[in-house]
Amino acid sequence: RPRVLSGIQPTADSFHLGNYLGAVRNWVTMQETHDTFYCVVDLHAITAGHDPVVLRRRTRVAAAQLLAVGLDPEKCTLFVQSQVPEHAQLAWVLSCLTGFGEASRMTQFKDKSARQGAERASVGLFTYPILQAADILLYQADAVPVGEDQRQHLELTRDLAQRFNTLFGATFTVPEAYIVRDTAKITDLQDPTSKMSKSASSPAGIIELLDDPARSAKKIKSAVTDTGREILFDPEQKPGLSNLLKIYSALSGRTIDELVEAYVGKGYGDLKKDLAGVLADFVRPIRERTTGFLDDPAQLDKLLSIGAEKARAVASTTLRATYDRIGFLAEA
Ligand code: TYM
Repeated sequence: RPRVLSGIQPTADSFHLGNYLGAVRNWVTMQETHDTFYCVVDLHAITAGHDPVVLRRRTRVAAAQLLAVGLDPEKCTLFVQSQVPEHAQLAWVLSCLTGFGEASRMTQFKDKSARQGAERASVGLFTYPILQAADILLYQADAVPVGEDQRQHLELTRDLAQRFNTLFGATFTVPEAYIVRDTAKITDLQDPTSKMSKSASSPAGIIELLDDPARSAKKIKSAVTDTGREILFDPEQKPGLSNLLKIYSALSGRTIDELVEAYVGKGYGDLKKDLAGVLADFVRPIRERTTGFLDDPAQLDKLLSIGAEKARAVASTTLRATYDRIGFLAEA
């Protein structure tokens, strides 16, 4: 089976629809066809300042949500990044192969450091994509299911894998980004040309999976659309409406064409009301199951430790090979 690795940051109290539709939904389906490794990337979550109590809570919430949406520890390896020390170890090696200019060109770093003020941004934020490359290469992943915003980080990962292989001999699988076009970029409900983002969007622009469906219904109702009346899929002319159609289609399993046909003669209000209903039905069991997993943190932590142990078996093999190739002494 081809190998998969992906990760998500525990930087919010809930995943938003962009995280779920752009990435996590594909994690669930790939469990059936691939050898899958999924991690909650807590090392990445400390690059922009954090509170320890909040981080610990969010790490558990992230893991609980992943289980609630359908990750099955019998089928995939689910773990927390900091419990597998090889991630930080390989990141150091890769950072020595990354050009300063190359890292400086990462657009997510440029955006985030601009928001924080260039002087205040941490070195960890700068080297973030290198740690992400280590996450992926440690597992010899063939495919990495992510949203469109991760494409540049995946390109860097591929470049680093190829560079290492050329300099020191074939060591890493060169991974492919796995990006599903229709849901690759779910946009902000208030600003439909920008991505829905936990760090950049206003609360009104984000739908959180664990939020009260009544609150989400209000956000959908006040989502920015255009002044037209006709329900058409046209991302250029009608970005807000088209985003709602994408979300509706992904959550209901109905194609966009089917939806457009079903809403002939109806208005934006009808579509928004129905979408809110579909969303409420979708999130209800996820909210309940998440709470269930969080009610027993000891059991959840146990499950994550087992995942970390499974992950380490793979990660340590790759790290040992890497250390050997670059000329570090083997443990005697
Ligand atoms: P993060 O935690 O920001 O987001 C998790 C996943 O959600 C996707 N995503 C979106 N997809 C579609 N539309 C959106 N509006 C949207 N917003 C977020 C992201 O593309 C991502 O797939 N750097 C990564 C975490 C990471 C990682 C890794 C990913 C660390 N190591 C190794 C893959 C492999 C990140 O910040 O994701």
